[in-house]
Amino acid sequence: MSNIERTLSIIKPDAVERNLVEKIKNIFLKNNLSIKESKKIRINKDEASEFYKVHQSKPFYNELCSYLSSGPIVVMILEGENAVLANRKLMGSTNPKDADENTIRKLYGISIDKNSVHGSDSVENAKKEIDFFFKN
Ligand code: CMP
Repeated sequence: MSNIERTLSIIKPDAVERNLVEKIKNIFLKNNLSIKESKKIRINKDEASEFYKVHQSKPFYNELCSYLSSGPIVVMILEGENAVLANRKLMGSTNPKDADENTIRKLYGISIDKNSVHGSDSVENAKKEIDFFFKN
């Protein structure tokens, strides 16, 4: 049975800065994820802190929020069959050095912080994350 989901994808500052947006979007499109919405924005540190608040107890939280607010990002709604998991498979492991060949983080990630993309980790979080960026 088909299971069409939506998930949130972010192209992080390191990838936007290196002009990788079209390359990354093409990976989604080639893998049957359609891009329903896409916008290039810049968020401030308070907004980044709100977005990543599930990580607030982590030692890397402060740096993570500074980083996401350090430059333009591209936020997208991806849609397709099992989109949450499909996107996570295309991204690869959080740390680019552990990521499988041909995943976005293996191809383009620089470090665990500058890992080029973010993707929602569950359908529930996808709804929250999509609302965060796309609710008027
Ligand atoms: P992301 O999928 O955006 O979700 C949280 C981010 O925290 C993660 O990608 C990494 O870029 C970043 N991060 C930094 N240090 C760590 C760490 N030690 N473990 C997990 N994520 C980390």
